[in-house]
Amino acid sequence: MSRLARTAWVIEALAMRLSSHCDQGLSQRLYGALRGWIESGELAAGEALPSSRRLSRELNIARNTALAALDRLTAEGFVVTRPGAGLFVARLALVESVQQSPVASRKVALSHRGDRLLTACAPSGGGHRAFAPGVPALDLFPREQWQRLLRRHQQRAPEAWLAYQATGGVTALKTALCDYLRLSRSVRCTPEQILITQGAQQGFELIARLLADPGDRAWVEEPGYAGAQAALMAAGLSLVPVPVDDDGIDVQRAPEGPAPKLIYVTPSHQYPCGITLSLARRLALLESARGSGAWIIEDDYDSEFRYSSPPLASLQGLVEPSPVIYVGTFSKVLYPGLRLGYLVLPPALVDPFRRANARLNREGQYVAQAALAEFIEQGHFSRHVARMRRAYRSRQAALREALTPATAEGLTLSNGHAGMHLLVPLESMALERALVAAAKRQEIQLSPLSRYFAGPAPQAGLVLGYAGSHEQDIARAGDWLARAWQRLRHNQH
Ligand SMILES: Cc1ncc(COP(=O)(O)O)c(C=O)c1O
Repeated sequence: MSRLARTAWVIEALAMRLSSHCDQGLSQRLYGALRGWIESGELAAGEALPSSRRLSRELNIARNTALAALDRLTAEGFVVTRPGAGLFVARLALVESVQQSPVASRKVALSHRGDRLLTACAPSGGGHRAFAPGVPALDLFPREQWQRLLRRHQQRAPEAWLAYQATGGVTALKTALCDYLRLSRSVRCTPEQILITQGAQQGFELIARLLADPGDRAWVEEPGYAGAQAALMAAGLSLVPVPVDDDGIDVQRAPEGPAPKLIYVTPSHQYPCGITLSLARRLALLESARGSGAWIIEDDYDSEFRYSSPPLASLQGLVEPSPVIYVGTFSKVLYPGLRLGYLVLPPALVDPFRRANARLNREGQYVAQAALAEFIEQGHFSRHVARMRRAYRSRQAALREALTPATAEGLTLSNGHAGMHLLVPLESMALERALVAAAKRQEIQLSPLSRYFAGPAPQAGLVLGYAGSHEQDIARAGDWLARAWQRLRHNQH
């Protein structure tokens, strides 16, 4: 094709592009079309392009519109100007080599650390929420009240909240939290010791990166919480599972070897077994941490939900000075998408953690933090927790009721005095697998207990969340489960 015919083709093709319906401006469309043809090789290196004057005349657009597109292509190096000769497609060695390389078909290889990390990242299950562990009653969250508080604090937000900051969070929230933790959990702290994070997960990551080096050991509960384990693994720590029995984690049974740098525990309500760490074991744990110089991470994720006794005193408050970093979250008492949690740090760690957090994660969400402080101060928080507690009691009762046909035949359920799930031991791994597979076919999420073990699981079972669904839904799913258990158990026998 002659040079004249080629430029005529370009103009015709551009006219077609501009006539089709699109939300973008004319200049952006002109630019996008030409750049696309250059990148795909449709317009070859060295080919002449129509001038802005000609584009303006033949496409019936303002000259400035055409100029803006051509100037941008020139500035980005896709087009070159030869004085006296006009505009030409540039020679793009890099684009050509990228086009020739089989990038699209390249095999994706994760790092060794990435591969290991994925073992702690079960695929997120879709389907029915009936038994999803750890999901709170999203339907009960007082959205309108929350919106009002957010709006008010958005309007009042000082300019500093729009900037980069390293304050550790909004003072009002730290103060409200400190009062709450001292009263209800016997945590020893001042507001300055609190660092607001984007959830407990971010707290675990900060602790792992700041207090341990790759290759150091971290003791974790066996079975235990995969979220915390993932954070420790991502920081390069070597995880050492320590068995949990009816009194909680037993540090005497930790494997021989170098001392740990970190010990992760859920003393109020062991996840997922629901055990409260006994006083003797608490003291043994503190003693062991003192002896080895390890930091204890106390994850107190759902202590508000106790149905037959008040919340328990924290491990952190048991001794002074304490080798414990207390981790809290609003994911369970409000909702996980809020992404707000906190650390209670020993005084010596406050400044390093604040600075590192501001550098690694950046602070933010000040409006939500201020709204939350008022939510707590005005008593909405305790009212909401009380309402959730009542709802969870009744959701748990609905689940128990639905499972009665199975419990009458020997299925056992954990005592359910606290938390948001029940633990159901099963007699064999085969039964666990069969139930999970049958549930999947019904699009019901069932969490097998074996998944919570880092090593071989000595006990099969199910972790049945009940907090996130209405009574009718949980009853329907429970009814299905009772029948599935009866049928599969019968088949296996
Ligand atoms: C044991 C445990 N800790 C902490 C969390 C909360 O994590 P986050 O605050 O990152 O949502 C969860 C949530 O599932 C959990 O199960």
